[in-house]
Amino acid sequence: MRRSLRRSLTNRELCFGVSQRRGPRHKGFSWGGVERFSAATTVLFLIAALAAEVPAPSTLRAAAQPSGLLIGAAVRPAQLSEPAYATTLAREFNMLEPEDALKWEVLRPDPQSFDFSQADQLVDFALRHNMKIRGHTLVWHRQLPAWLSTGNFSSAQLSQLLETHIKTVVAHYRGKVFAWDVINEAFDEGPRTGQPRETLWSNISTVLEQTSNSQPATRDSKLAYIAQSFRWAHEADPDALLFYNEAEADELNPKSDAIYAMLQKFKRNSVPIDGIGLQMHISNLHPNIDSISANIARFTALGLQVHLTEMDVSLPVDRSGNATPADLASQAEIYRQIAAACFSHHGCTAIQTWGFTDRYSWIGSHSKHTKGAALLFDRNYCPKPAYEALRQAMSQAR
Ligand code: XIL
Repeated sequence: MRRSLRRSLTNRELCFGVSQRRGPRHKGFSWGGVERFSAATTVLFLIAALAAEVPAPSTLRAAAQPSGLLIGAAVRPAQLSEPAYATTLAREFNMLEPEDALKWEVLRPDPQSFDFSQADQLVDFALRHNMKIRGHTLVWHRQLPAWLSTGNFSSAQLSQLLETHIKTVVAHYRGKVFAWDVINEAFDEGPRTGQPRETLWSNISTVLEQTSNSQPATRDSKLAYIAQSFRWAHEADPDALLFYNEAEADELNPKSDAIYAMLQKFKRNSVPIDGIGLQMHISNLHPNIDSISANIARFTALGLQVHLTEMDVSLPVDRSGNATPADLASQAEIYRQIAAACFSHHGCTAIQTWGFTDRYSWIGSHSKHTKGAALLFDRNYCPKPAYEALRQAMSQAR
């Protein structure tokens, strides 16, 4: 108790001491305020705090342990050398996913080579800290290297490139990456929402249809490359869980309907798929929780696992990147409700946030810095109301 209490005091000191400098609303809690007391008062205060029955500090991963739920974060290797980043990540999460390090742009400097150095760093970190590793992503239309997107490859060449890529990458991490986002965002949005997206990769479907060994599910004109990618990944690591990952398909809507129909067909035709990743990038304060829950329910009823793979709840921010206390409270409630929706379905087994500290989040550049503050920890690695809400939801799960 004493040791853990000391650790918790250090964390409080760090968080509240630093955050006090950011604005008056933290003053009331500030360990910075200790400076205003006399030395004797401070000593008395510390002794009283040490003697008090304070509950052991908990963490997200400790809260998740009894139920076996996975709590993950997307991670960037460059930040691992920052002590607060590495410490928070290892302390709080039992799973990580490379945010960009497994994308073609990073892995494939040229058509012949594979550069695993960045992703390997993250995998080593995860193994050292007893964390599971999700792989993201083998097939996506974005973050492709220029040699590929401007290479004018024929469909047959692309099919060959994709097969080699999937098999090489999955084999490299066999036994280490327990789950792969095999395909990411294969359905369109906007006016074509729910239609298969036409990409470099979707072109290879025609080639696959012509091959003599194509299976029934791969003969569906536009979706053949998706089914085939699952088969290639399964060949390279039969034990890995294989996921279809999608954006803006969190609620019941035309996109999630189309994915549901596809996955139903895949299950009927024994395409090796284990789950669906719902990204859960929430950009307004009124997500339809009932609809999210019903969507999770229908996918789990198909026998698929559901992972919430990229959760963040972005808020309007001022020029310094700060959100209002009211919005931070609403954000906490959204994290709590979505976590509870996941935990109420047995097949929903993981929640992962896209980053974990507001210091590093894709939302800033993605929204031209009008939004931010989307994650569980602030820029100084201090837990936000959303952290506490999620930790409580996890400890009450199942
Ligand atoms: C984002 C990364 O966070 C950024 O660092 C990168 O510049 C662009 O991609 N959906 C996905 C993720 O599946 O791969 C994206 O990640 C965010 C949206």
